[in-house]
Amino acid sequence: MDGLTRRISEAVHGQPQATVTVLSSLLAVEDELGYIPKEAVEEVAALTHSTINDVWAVASFYPNFRFEPPCEHTVEICWGTSCHLVGAMPLIEAILDAAGMEGEGDTDDRRLTLRFNTCLGACAQAPVISIDHQLHGRLSAEAAREKVSALLSAPDSSGGR
Ligand code: FES
Repeated sequence: MDGLTRRISEAVHGQPQATVTVLSSLLAVEDELGYIPKEAVEEVAALTHSTINDVWAVASFYPNFRFEPPCEHTVEICWGTSCHLVGAMPLIEAILDAAGMEGEGDTDDRRLTLRFNTCLGACAQAPVISIDHQLHGRLSAEAAREKVSALLSAPDSSGGR
């Protein structure tokens, strides 16, 4: 079993909840890998006694699933109501500017995946962003710009992925 197959297997078979569904299994894989590889679709189909088409139908219905590995770093920006009310928009503009991007997506050099999120679950600390799954709250636009710039100016740690 290679590393990817083992991580998929551990993610789908290690779900703590009593009811395991196609969606819960896909979420477990996305949490573990940051994307849904085709091998995971096959594993989820087998585990849930579904067809591969059924699993693809669920996976493709939800826009938050991605089917390619994320870039070296992932930044999520919350633009939910609480964050919006206290300055998510200037934060978004500063981060897009620092990353040289116009919206969500991956940079061409594969250093940064940028995603918008409707709630990162830390509304009391709004406005909130997540950098490589670590939350940063009560950020000013300038602080957010500096964090993203620092991330992108650091040496590439992906090993050329
Ligand atoms: S709305 Fe931004 S963390 Fe909840």
